[in-house]
Amino acid sequence: MNPIIIDTDPGQDDAIALLLAAASPELELLGITTVAGNVPLALTTRNARIVMELAGRRDVPICAGADRPLDVPLVTAEHVHGDTGLNGIELPEPTLPTDPRHAVDFIVQTLRERGAGTVTLCPLGPLTNIALALRRAPDIAPRIRRIVLMGGGFFEGGNVTPAAEFNFYVDPRAAHEVFTSGVPITMAPLDVTHEVLTTAARIDAIRRLGTRVGEVVSAWMEFFERYDEEKYGQDGGPLHDPCVIAFLLQPALFTSRDCNVRIETASELTRGMSVIDWWGVTGLPANAQVLRHADSDGFFALLTERLARL
Ligand code: BDR
Ligand code: CA
Repeated sequence: MNPIIIDTDPGQDDAIALLLAAASPELELLGITTVAGNVPLALTTRNARIVMELAGRRDVPICAGADRPLDVPLVTAEHVHGDTGLNGIELPEPTLPTDPRHAVDFIVQTLRERGAGTVTLCPLGPLTNIALALRRAPDIAPRIRRIVLMGGGFFEGGNVTPAAEFNFYVDPRAAHEVFTSGVPITMAPLDVTHEVLTTAARIDAIRRLGTRVGEVVSAWMEFFERYDEEKYGQDGGPLHDPCVIAFLLQPALFTSRDCNVRIETASELTRGMSVIDWWGVTGLPANAQVLRHADSDGFFALLTERLARL
């Protein structure tokens, strides 16, 4: 089994990533840490609890983390995800308790307890908690097996500004510190997540599972996709965060290239931009595996089959 910690700001696409992980026996879900991003921290934590309750996984600790980025004010995305972050269907308030540990303490403690090089971190939101953990306990860096994250964009540009993707835009300093930490990184940028679209036929297949999870996920997808459908004039919205979990389960669904990646922190115009040296023009060493294309039919076959297990 592959032990992972998911750091997240649910968000419908984060929620679907959590369900995909919860349904997959190849992954040992050690814990979920929450961060402010799509909506404020109190809501991302509540939403993580709702999702794990829906998955029937009351065994996974959920620890709340940073309520704001390192050195800039929080920017949220209610215009994409709705005012709760999980709009699309009415769900009961969760009864699952939050673990009393702070997310950063949980990450540090878990990495120190577990064997060096065994635990993968899966950040699906702004990288604040990960950067804080690396600041507080630099000894954990060599203990992390890999960071597999959703963030950035190169060929697609950005989705918040012309240059920047949301997760890196919200906390550019944290993204910079993670990309210069020396920890091996795999990144799923917009270039790949924009290929994984929730078309009407794919949503129907999930609704036809006939389960509560199928009903909830299809409602979330229909709410979430309307934003990108309007913006890009396409059938379906991008399932960003589930790409991280799908990569862990079936890396062959993705093509990739090892590149040098740097994050802009200073410029107002390009704040949070991921500068990916795709063509190797700088000669700088690669610090990230950058996912480029996805087998989207294979991705949805995997997702649908796994959701059917819940
Ligand atoms: C990222 O931003 C959030 O809105 C999504 O959950 C995803 O993590 C996409 O830019
Ligand atoms: Ca997210």
